This record gives sequence, C-alpha cells and structure tokens, in this order.
Amino acid sequence: MKVPFGTISITPESRKLINQAINSGRVSSGKLVREFEEKFAKLVNVKEAVAVSSGTDADILALAALYDFGAKRQDEVIVPALSFVATGNAVLHAGFKPVFVDIERDTLNINPELIEKKITRKTVAIMPVHLMGKPAKMDIISRIAKKHKLFVIEDAAEAHGARYKGKNAGEWGDMAAYSLYLAHIITTVEGGIITTNNEKLSAILRSLRSHGRACKCKVCVVNTASEYCPKRFKYGKDIRFIFERAGYSSKMNELEAAVGLGSLSAYHEIINKRHHNLITMIKRLREFSEYFFTIQEDKNERIGPHAFPIIVKENAPFNRDELATYLDRRGIDTRDLFSCMPTQCPGFSFLGARLGDFPNAEYMGNHGIHIGVHQDINEKHINYIFSVLKAFIASKVK
Ligand SMILES: Cc1ncc(COP(=O)(O)O)c(C=O)c1O
Repeated sequence: MKVPFGTISITPESRKLINQAINSGRVSSGKLVREFEEKFAKLVNVKEAVAVSSGTDADILALAALYDFGAKRQDEVIVPALSFVATGNAVLHAGFKPVFVDIERDTLNINPELIEKKITRKTVAIMPVHLMGKPAKMDIISRIAKKHKLFVIEDAAEAHGARYKGKNAGEWGDMAAYSLYLAHIITTVEGGIITTNNEKLSAILRSLRSHGRACKCKVCVVNTASEYCPKRFKYGKDIRFIFERAGYSSKMNELEAAVGLGSLSAYHEIINKRHHNLITMIKRLREFSEYFFTIQEDKNERIGPHAFPIIVKENAPFNRDELATYLDRRGIDTRDLFSCMPTQCPGFSFLGARLGDFPNAEYMGNHGIHIGVHQDINEKHINYIFSVLKAFIASKVK
C-alpha cells in the first residue's frame, strides 16, 4: 500500500476555469486572482487577501511591508527556532535579522514565556508559526506585541482552517501569510496569500508583489499598474514605471487562481476529511505512548490538519531515522519534522548560535517526523500505518 505525503484535487470547476482563462487569452494576474483573493479573505474572516507566488513570498512581502511603517534594514524579527526553513529565510530576504526563540515541546510552537527576553530596541515584529496547523498561543503573543508596540505577522503556511480561542488563525495578527503549495489544504499548486484587515497594508502588499509599483486604483488592485489602468498616464508619464518602494516580482497567475478556486469550493469536504484523519491518528498513537508523542487538540482550538507529527521519545530503543526508513520502505512517505533553524541549518550559522541553545527545537530536529493526513487517506490507510508502526516496534523491542 502507498501512503503519499500529499495529494492534489484539481476539481472539475478548476479545469473549467483553466480552459476559460486560456481561451480568454488572459492568463497573467486578472479577475480569477481577484475572485480567489476575495473568497480566501472571506474564509479567514478578514477584509483583504493578496495572492502571491509562494508561501515564502507571502512571508517576505508581509515583512517588507513594515518598511512603510518606519522599520529599518537589519531591524529584528522574533521567530520560533523550529519551522520550515522558509520562515527564517524570509526574514533574511526581507532585510531583517531573525531572532530565534525556543519552542514548547507539547505544541511545537514558539514559547511565549521566552519572547520578552529577546525584545530589544531594534525589534519590529513577532512572527509566530502555527506549526503542523497547531495554533500558537496568539492571545499571549498579541498581549506582548501590544505592550512593546510590535507588529504580529502569523506564518499561517500550515494553518488553513485552524482556530484558537474563538478566532481563526490569520485573524490575530496584523497580517498572516499562507502557503498554497500542493501539500497544503487550499492549493494553487505553487502559491501563497497574505491576509489582513488593514487596507493600507493590502495596498502596500499589492505594490510590493509587482516591483513596488505605484498605482492602487480599483482596476490595478489585481495587478498593480496594469495595461488596463485608467490612471496609466496620470502623472504625464506611464504610471507602470513609477516605483514607490523596493519591490518583488511575485504575482499569482490566472491558471493558479483557477486551481485555487476549485480547491476553495471543495474546502469544507477536504478539511473535514483531513481533520478526521488527524484526530484518528492522534488517538491511535496513544497505544504507543511509551515510544512516541505528538500534538493534541485542546478544547479551545481546532488544529488546521496539515500533517501528523510523530516524535520519538528519549528512551525509545530506536531512533528517528530507523523509524523513517522503515515507514518509507513500506510505502508510507515521511518528512523530517524540520530542523532548528539557527543551529541545525547552516544558512543561519553566521548569526553565531550554538548547538544546545534551543534544546526543544533541536530535539524535534533530531527525533521528529511527519506524515500526510490528506483527503485521499482513508480508514484502510490509517489501519495500515498503525500496523506498520506496530511491526516496527515489535522488530525493535525484544
Ligand atoms: C511554516 C512554513 N512557512 C513557510 C512556508 C513556505 O511556503 P512555500 O513552500 O509555498 O514557499 C512553508 C511551506 O510549507 C511552511 O511550512
């Protein structure tokens, strides 16, 4: 049996929209992108959403928007030490310095109790990650940010559909950045989207995704300063060549938005299936609690069912790599549970952190894996996964 990590549903609606876009002759950013943005914003319950090329770009642009609010290059952004490496990379590529904070072992998320110690005069933002769709403690993080007048940007790449204390992940921060890569709950194949309640921020984000262009008129809201812009020659000059800020090239195209619109219409079905799979796996892992632990869903939250983490306990008579190899060889795709960015990812070594500085994040980097919970996984696959786990343990425990 095969249990792939991810799957993609390109729905009949997506196929129809893809053909429509091709036949219309307009495949670069246009009305489908705008429709996708509006529907995504509604789902998260925020005013605006700005679609971009990837979740990494969503992180970078959200950070780069802070320059319009007085942030300076090399200012500091607080991030958890454990995340997919894109979180830390985005801080660097936006021109800031990542300041890492260790995570909690049970939630895999930034430990709010350690944040204040890392705040300096240069700190401009906190960027919590809802890892594996488990919401970070946004009430505490928001209080700290308010006290120190910091922006909050949620890295919600893995948190589609997550809820925490009565609000959606994505409703807490000044902005939230989502990945729409194909292993994610809502997908455009490759893509990302930033949500916000602040229309000034969404206008800046639209400018940033299109090289920092100036125009923010209603037509250009899709594709800043397009050839359809009614104000194109407003300043006696082609407005498409007025650049107000140092921008990026990271627009979404119509074909991606078509896949995304189909994905959105199947959203409730997909998320319910994935959530059921995740909760079933969490419960069934309890049988092996002597050897493994994972995240739990608390009463006041709903995990966005991104994937199922399995972490090997200290005293287990086997290691993570043996487990991963055993599962992979039996058709169950595994991924490592990422790495501690400052100490286990060489790209951050220039910042000078030392192994041992982030014990919990490093533990996950050495002992964690995650596997898929996607909509094509059913009861039979789950039974298979747990029978393989059982056989693995039996092979190791004499
Ligand atoms: C936490 C986190 N942040 C950012 C990203 C980057 O998203 P993308 O791969 O779409 O660039 C990912 C990707 O899965 C992620 O898991």
